[in-house]
Amino acid sequence: MSTINNLDLQNIPRHVAFIMDGNGRWAKNKGQHRLFGHAAGVESVKSVIQTARELGISYLTLYAFSTENWARPSDEVEGLMNLLVDAIANEVDEMHANGVRLLTIGDIQGLPGNCHESLLSAMNRTKDNTALTLILALNYSARQEIIKAALAAHQLMQDAQLSSTDLSEQVFSSLLQTKDIPDPELLIRTSGECRISNFLLWQLSYTELLFTDTHWPDFRREAFIDAIANFQKRERRFGMVSEQIQTTK
Ligand code: IPE
Ligand code: IPE
Ligand code: MG
Repeated sequence: MSTINNLDLQNIPRHVAFIMDGNGRWAKNKGQHRLFGHAAGVESVKSVIQTARELGISYLTLYAFSTENWARPSDEVEGLMNLLVDAIANEVDEMHANGVRLLTIGDIQGLPGNCHESLLSAMNRTKDNTALTLILALNYSARQEIIKAALAAHQLMQDAQLSSTDLSEQVFSSLLQTKDIPDPELLIRTSGECRISNFLLWQLSYTELLFTDTHWPDFRREAFIDAIANFQKRERRFGMVSEQIQTTK
């Protein structure tokens, strides 16, 4: 187990993204309803936010609800939306006091009205904070995000504001919902599944991927520090060879 003192503070990722998975299985293992797992998952969210602040991470993205998750039983979907509203109501004061800025990606207009409103109000309240940017992916689909960016590029070309030869990776990135957010250096998915599930498909091109068997409700400060220690052991080569990386260090 790593401690914060073992970490290289010069090599903390600027942006960490999470696929928070395993709430249901965690609850089932305890003979409880799935929503019990989701409620426990909120405590992990709090712990991870706190740890990110402690480590000096600037951006934290949490995949909280995918467009595919609407297909779950309606009582679970409703329970998740209620948990979201409650969590914002309970946590926004502390988040604001701690300098956390809340952003969202995904189509939040498609959420129930009270969720949408509480998100807008929390985002507005925290908009000038600078300690940590917390990005909640809600009603999010990476493929939808990419299609919308392609349509926006098409519109710019129709309006003669962009020529096809100028459509660089940088320009395309600026048309995504994550336009002002650097790509994650690290993605962590809990609960053993080794898949991306339609999350940040463009932005994860060169991200380090870490899959852990720990279920999300058990993923707390220690597990996060271990994950950062694991990240720090990796050599990010970006297509180069190891010797080139060593000499630039
Ligand atoms: C993640 O846990 C939370 C959401 C997707 C909202 P799951 O609910 O997917 O838990 P498992 O995968 O069924 O264990
Ligand atoms: C991915 O988890 C979505 C979120 C964490 C919100 P799922 O549990 O829905 O993923 P799949 O469907 O098993 O891939
Ligand atoms: Mg799951």
